[in-house]
Amino acid sequence: MQQNNKSNVREWLSPLLYLCNNPISLAGVVLVTAATVFWLYMFPTGMAGETPNPYIGIALYVILPGFFFAGLALIPIGAWFRKRRDRLSGRKPGSYPPINWGNADFRRLALFIIGATFVNMALASVFSYDAIDYMDSVTFCGKTCHQVMEPEYAAYQNSPHSRVGCVKCHIGSGASWFVKSKLSGAGQVLAVILNNYERPIPTPVRNLRPARDTCETCHWPEKFEEDRLRVIPKFADDETNSESKTVLLMMIGGGSRGGGIHGVHMGPGVTVRYWPSDESRQTIPRVEYTGPGKHAVYTATDAKPELLRNLKTERVMDCMDCHNRPTHTFELPAAAIDKAIASGQISSALPFVKKKGMEILKATYASNQEAAERIPASLEQYYRQSYPAVSQQRGKEIARAGRSLSAIFNRNVFPAMKVTWGSYPNNLGHTDFPGCFRCHDDNHATADGSKSVTQDCNTCHKLLAVEEVKPKILTELSVQ
Ligand code: HEC
Ligand code: HEC
Ligand code: HEC
Ligand code: HEC
Ligand code: HEC
Repeated sequence: MQQNNKSNVREWLSPLLYLCNNPISLAGVVLVTAATVFWLYMFPTGMAGETPNPYIGIALYVILPGFFFAGLALIPIGAWFRKRRDRLSGRKPGSYPPINWGNADFRRLALFIIGATFVNMALASVFSYDAIDYMDSVTFCGKTCHQVMEPEYAAYQNSPHSRVGCVKCHIGSGASWFVKSKLSGAGQVLAVILNNYERPIPTPVRNLRPARDTCETCHWPEKFEEDRLRVIPKFADDETNSESKTVLLMMIGGGSRGGGIHGVHMGPGVTVRYWPSDESRQTIPRVEYTGPGKHAVYTATDAKPELLRNLKTERVMDCMDCHNRPTHTFELPAAAIDKAIASGQISSALPFVKKKGMEILKATYASNQEAAERIPASLEQYYRQSYPAVSQQRGKEIARAGRSLSAIFNRNVFPAMKVTWGSYPNNLGHTDFPGCFRCHDDNHATADGSKSVTQDCNTCHKLLAVEEVKPKILTELSVQ
């Protein structure tokens, strides 16, 4: 019985082997074995690193499978040609050569496959860990697709997370997200190669890993508690760039007590769900609060009924809904100049430097290169023409201010990626973008209208001073 089976298989296999013994099919066999061996070598290495490596991703999920299937297709194509040739020449073997070591054809084929596999293994092992290690790094993530990632990389370097690897937030630990990111990474690399990626890169990131698994490995809601005093310096657009200060006491909250900004949205047992009406989540017609002993649904009172009916995407609020720019924190011109003046990079002794700086930053430049050349030149020219004396006495300060302005421009605006001032809304706050006021606008109310999401100016912060020249509170605290 067994003997019978074996010979059946041989009967069926031997014409196949005979037909496949041709250059095209053999090339197919080489491709299939090579792709398999390389895949087997790269897969564990890819899985071991904690990093999204677009090159490994694309090799594992695009190139190698491509070769594999191309090889697989070549085998029957070669066999078909051979069959046709035999038919045309009328040369049809009466019996097919047997499959055993005695048959030279079979021996040659088997040795060929074994040989090819060894050569592939030797080649594959050349892919060293060193190369992969390099590709794990922030430099690689931020710089390989230089132009594509430049905006995110530039803002990242200027952020509190500039020492936190990209992968810590974008992938986190564990194999399943690793594979997911590889798959999407491969798609992204393909888009870069085909040059059909979106500019600017859209935000929010689709399928970003939940903050629970990433941010909370370093920050966890129970940890914050204390209120935080924020002093925000501002400079007016008058000749002396007169300084004022805004002082806020932020009700950070959270911790074991709950309450405050963190506790109320993310405390134990609290879930805030919301339904945005746009992809960028900037308009939120409905939000639902579920907390210990409390449940409420708030809808925007001015929203049209059909809009409310068509709300599809539901999102559970997490860190990213407020801190959507924890590290790619793009600035706006006014705030960026205020910061530079406060830190002394731009001298406040330069007349109208705030006003003129804003004008220069808001002008259009074709490229970052052009901005780097024209911005310092415009500032110098302005002082030469309008304030010749200042221009002579404070040449160094003007040059420094010019460099500072061009640095501000070049870390926030990227013409090649169509990223300009305000392209990426920041949800933390409400002065520049809707932010907290997407829900907290006093216009989101329960069905009976009895309660609304508060806009009271002293719930999220205590406004200790708003643009005061000499805030009393800072004098009392002896910090000015
Ligand atoms: C502290 C965490 C963190 C780190 C570190 C980090 N990112 Fe991000 N990244 C985010 C968040 C949060 C978003 C926006 C998510 C959202 O709104 O959906 C984002 C968005 C992006 C986007 C989409 C476009 C955009 O600006 O919204 C790109 C591209 C990106 N990051 C690349 C990088 C690169 C490259 C690095 C390393 C140089 C990096 N990220 C490091 C948290 C991080
Ligand atoms: C690998 C650790 C790590 C991860 C992951 C991480 N952070 Fe941070 N975060 C830090 C460090 C370090 C600082 C700087 C602390 C300091 O300046 O005292 C920081 C600072 C911050 C700050 C305070 C910034 C300020 O102005 O003081 C915020 C807000 C923040 N992180 C939010 C996030 C969010 C949101 C995520 C997830 C997208 C995240 N972090 C992921 C380590 C991390
Ligand atoms: C409802 C919006 C909101 C959510 C949700 C939220 N935060 Fe915050 N967070 C804030 C605000 C507002 C501040 C204060 C910012 C400031 O000082 O200007 C803050 C401050 C912080 C700080 C700095 C605290 C300090 O004392 O310096 C960290 C770190 C932080 N958040 C991390 C997180 C993490 C991690 C999560 C998710 C577990 C989270 N936040 C969720 C709004 C939020
Ligand atoms: C997606 C909608 C949404 C956004 C965005 C949002 N919140 Fe809230 N917030 C709520 C809801 C819902 C409540 C709870 C209302 C209730 O008590 O039923 C709430 C309550 C609060 C409270 C407590 C109010 C009170 O009466 O004690 C504070 C403080 C707060 N939010 C701060 C913020 C800050 C700061 C931001 C922006 C960084 C923000 N929220 C953004 C939905 C939101
Ligand atoms: C739902 C919470 C919330 C409410 C309500 C709220 N704010 Fe704010 N506000 C914030 C947050 C968060 C920030 C700052 C964020 C940052 O820059 O880190 C802020 C910042 C500010 C600033 C400083 C902005 C700057 O950069 O100069 C001013 C001024 C301010 N708020 C005024 C108000 C006034 C006036 C009201 C009442 C109409 C109000 N806020 C209501 C959350 C709130």
